[in-house]
Amino acid sequence: MQTIVLATQKGGSGKSTLTISLALAAIRAGHTVRVIETDSQGTLSNWKRRRPHAAPIVEPIYAAREVEQRLQSLGGEGVTVTIVDTAGGISAATNSAIRYADFCLIPTRPSIADIEATAATLSVIRAWHKPFAYVLNQTPIRGAARLAGAENALSNEAALDIDDIVARPIIMMRNDHQDALSAGLAVCEYAPGSKSAEEIRDLWRWVEARLGNEAAAIDEPIIEEIVETPARLPAMAALPSTQNDSAFFLRAPARS
Ligand SMILES: Nc1ncnc2c1ncn2[C@@H]1O[C@H](COP(=O)(O)OP(=O)(O)OP(=O)(O)O)[C@@H](O)[C@H]1O
Ligand SMILES: [Mg+2]
Repeated sequence: MQTIVLATQKGGSGKSTLTISLALAAIRAGHTVRVIETDSQGTLSNWKRRRPHAAPIVEPIYAAREVEQRLQSLGGEGVTVTIVDTAGGISAATNSAIRYADFCLIPTRPSIADIEATAATLSVIRAWHKPFAYVLNQTPIRGAARLAGAENALSNEAALDIDDIVARPIIMMRNDHQDALSAGLAVCEYAPGSKSAEEIRDLWRWVEARLGNEAAAIDEPIIEEIVETPARLPAMAALPSTQNDSAFFLRAPARS
């Protein structure tokens, strides 16, 4: 089973919306998908109540220990992809989800304030040595210059090459996402022929390709020695790493 965690401290960046979109894209790509909601705000549970279809199952789990246990047991139930929606901020449950993630996605709007707000989440992800990518979301249709600035800011924040840490495609701001959420649907159901649905399908393909790459790249467990207390993680992340970050996170060799 592959576990994908959507996390960022910043509220409203699209964690829940993208969880739903990617879950349905993964189902349509042939996966058996489970969705875990660790945010007591309940966006996914509410969406599920409006939803006219049974799949995917959404499991609300708010306690960190239970998140860990569930992520360890789901693979034995035939689930091939689990997607975890987390709350804004840094919590013990988010830390647990990241600990058991195969890949972390950090949704962010393309503004400097939003990008700067991802730093704390990135620290936790790095403390657990997890592969990650940003998803530029709610990107205004017009504004190529701002977008280029945002990508550069992300690249600087992570000290890595844009092409390696920004998922493709970028996701534009489109009403379909909000309308689908209201209807208990995902965009690929609500507006299957739309650009919004196409972007999400392509994003899933990108994530799946990256998951395959990472599965081949990671060959040793390295998280056991890391202390579990979330409050200590950012400080730990600042310590010198025993591994070259880009070499670990990314299969592709670092570019000069
Ligand atoms: N690409 C998009 N285009 C238009 N609207 C979007 C897009 N992505 C998300 N939204 C909308 O932005 C709002 C916030 O999104 P969402 O609830 O997914 O964010 P979140 O990160 O889960 O927030 P929170 O931290 O509060 O849980 C929602 O109304 C959602 O429908
Ligand atoms: Mg949410």
